[in-house]
Amino acid sequence: MISKRSSVHGQWSSRWVFILAATGSAVGLGNIWRFPYLVGENGGGAFVLVYLICVVLVGVPIMMAEILLGRRGRQSPINTMSILAAEEGLSQYWQLIGWMGVIAGFIILSYYSVIAGWTLAYIFRTGAGAFIGADGGFSKNMFTELVSDPEKLLAWHTIFIVMSVVIVSRGVKGGLEIAVKFLMPALLILLLVMVGYAMSTEKFLEGITYLFVPDFERLADKNFFADILLPALGQAFFSLSIGMGAIMIYGSYLSQKSSITFNCFTIAIADTSVAMLAGIAIFPIVFTYGLEPAGGPGLIFITLPIAFGQMPFGTLFGTLFFILLLFAAWTSAISLLEPAVTWLIENKNMSRIKASTFAGVIAWTLGLVTVLSFNHWAFSFSFAGVDKENGFFDIFDILTSNILLPIGGLLIAIFAVWRMSRKSTAEELGLGDNISYRAWRFSVRYVAPFGVIVIFLNAIGVFKLLGFVEQ
Ligand code: TRP
Repeated sequence: MISKRSSVHGQWSSRWVFILAATGSAVGLGNIWRFPYLVGENGGGAFVLVYLICVVLVGVPIMMAEILLGRRGRQSPINTMSILAAEEGLSQYWQLIGWMGVIAGFIILSYYSVIAGWTLAYIFRTGAGAFIGADGGFSKNMFTELVSDPEKLLAWHTIFIVMSVVIVSRGVKGGLEIAVKFLMPALLILLLVMVGYAMSTEKFLEGITYLFVPDFERLADKNFFADILLPALGQAFFSLSIGMGAIMIYGSYLSQKSSITFNCFTIAIADTSVAMLAGIAIFPIVFTYGLEPAGGPGLIFITLPIAFGQMPFGTLFGTLFFILLLFAAWTSAISLLEPAVTWLIENKNMSRIKASTFAGVIAWTLGLVTVLSFNHWAFSFSFAGVDKENGFFDIFDILTSNILLPIGGLLIAIFAVWRMSRKSTAEELGLGDNISYRAWRFSVRYVAPFGVIVIFLNAIGVFKLLGFVEQ
């Protein structure tokens, strides 16, 4: 029996709107800000290769599982898990997936918003022509000046949270459609312009080699599980927006007719292409201007403005670029709020406006920790063979991407194929019992969970939790 439930929160008007919305959630700071700096911190090509494997073998199958659960339950992730568990005669503890997701969502949004705030600040700086003729040192100073001023960070963070709350309080479907239909393709075009500039730099080949050719010598003093696999796995979850219910709630608005398999591949391809383009645009600049690839979270904010300062029409392109990046971050941030907001509407009888405001206040407050992590509260520790300098921000980031999201994904996979009946999932995916269904089932049953578990166990063995202490 195909589930006849419909969502109280409405439905996407077509399959393409779902694909666009989910791509809007997936493509964001994760691709353009987080991916390049992790590549730089974790040794280049080998990290990229492992990342791609994680996306295909773990990310896509889990994304399919997450959407499938969402569409079958048609409620907030917490209530979806509760309904599905009851339907399959399982324990109500499965709701935990939803709860963990809500917590991860708040933590991610709290720092995501601060970084989106940097993007806002850079729209104005670039627009004012601040980077014309800038070199590496100048650009670095500009960045340091911004992050060492908590008041500025707070102001931009506040603006971004308000922006996100406004969209979520009107329902994610309205504004999202236009934003993703026009702005995502525009972002893609600008990335291509950046790639064009990167091609004109002296060290283009060096950048590309760094990005795509694994250099095992560089990895000699690294531990493969802890330093490469775990951050790559975490980035796959982060970039695809999986493991915390964001894609589950988007799946709950998806019509019964739409093919989950096709949708997921489309989203994953779009997401991965944006990350690769960002890498291609950034690393040649890093090498040409003698910057440090392992420059940490400031990497794109230091490298890209140099390019804008050098290229023809740089001020125009740069301003546009940061505006589009802001939109990409915006369409991601709303998906981080949506699971908590739908739960508040369903269970606490709140209006959408009230629920969004309430959730926004929580994320805003938690964001203060990140605001201070770059200045007053900064401290260093080492993680995965990398020196992290921004205390709680780094801890939040590692805790969510490398721990909470993979655990969430693992539980989703276990629920979908070890606990739910084969009949229910086959029905929901609409694949019958054909080869695609079996391939999916095999990867969610064995490959993805064991991948996550093996990486976790090895990584923990190596941290010995000791390498993870304050220096
Ligand atoms: N994927 C987004 C990005 O790359 C961030 C994001 C949105 C996210 N929703 C999420 C990450 C849910 C993890 C879980 O910028």
